[in-house]
This record gives sequence, C-alpha cells and structure tokens, in this order.
Amino acid sequence: MEALFPQGEKSIGLCSDHAGFDMKKYIITLFDERGIRYTDFGTYTNESCDYPDFAHKLGAAIDNGECDFGISICGTGNGINMALNKHQAVRAALCWNPYVAKMARAHNNANVLTLPGRMISEQEAYEMIVTFFTIPFEGGRHQARIDKIPLR
Ligand code: RB5
Repeated sequence: MEALFPQGEKSIGLCSDHAGFDMKKYIITLFDERGIRYTDFGTYTNESCDYPDFAHKLGAAIDNGECDFGISICGTGNGINMALNKHQAVRAALCWNPYVAKMARAHNNANVLTLPGRMISEQEAYEMIVTFFTIPFEGGRHQARIDKIPLR
C-alpha cells in the first residue's frame, strides 16, 4: 500500500464521528503498519459527538493546503460528506464499493474518500482505500465538468 500514495510530503487527513471511530482506528493501524503519514483530526473516542466538528477540521486543512487528500467516516457517510463538501477545495465522495471509489477518482477527481463505517467491513474499506489511492484522474471532459461545480 505504501506505493499507493504518491502525493508527496503531505499527510492524509482523517476524520470521523463516534460511529466511524472504530473504522478510523482500523485505517490508522493500516497506515501505521505501512509508514503512511496521516493527520488525525478526530474524534478521538467512542463518545457521541457531532460529525461537522471533525469534518470542518479536515475541510479546512484541505482548503488551506495542509492536506491534499483525506478519508472521512461516519455511520452512513452522509452527514460527514455533506459537511466536507461545504469547503471550496473539497470534493468528497461517499463510496460503498471499489467501483464507486474508482469512478470517484477517475471522473470526479475526488480528494476525500468518505466511508459508511456502520455499513461496511474492514476488508471492504481496505479495498476502497487501495482503489481510491491507486486510480488517477482522467482529466479532459471530466475537468470541464468539475470546473462547473463551484458556486463562487
Ligand atoms: C450517528 O448516529 C449518525 O447519525 C452519523 O454517524 C451519520 O451516519 C450521519 O450522517
């Protein structure tokens, strides 16, 4: 997996709420075992919390260039994905299988992989992470479409 992260010096930003906390811990174990650098923007416990508090920390890090990529997790993936996509530099994609993760990179140039922590296994998360960080953006007509997304 080490070779799958060509984005250079920057760490990968991670965030979750309580419902995604265990999956975030699994991802941290994966990254630690492989020497992949990350910044954990929380949450840091299983205690009930509000997903926007952590989504906005990762979103700000992408807006200000601290991170180029991120992974976010809540129970369904919906809430944390909605909050992240309020940030101008974020294109967060809610993915539930490797094909969606592949297309999120190839066509949408997604920079945040959002996972539904309560609905997928660790193996499914692993496969989506590998896919997401392997597949390049195709550019071309897809760039023209992405350019139309921002409202300001
Ligand atoms: C938490 O119970 C749950 O609502 C949250 O993790 C997420 O699924 C919201 O979209």
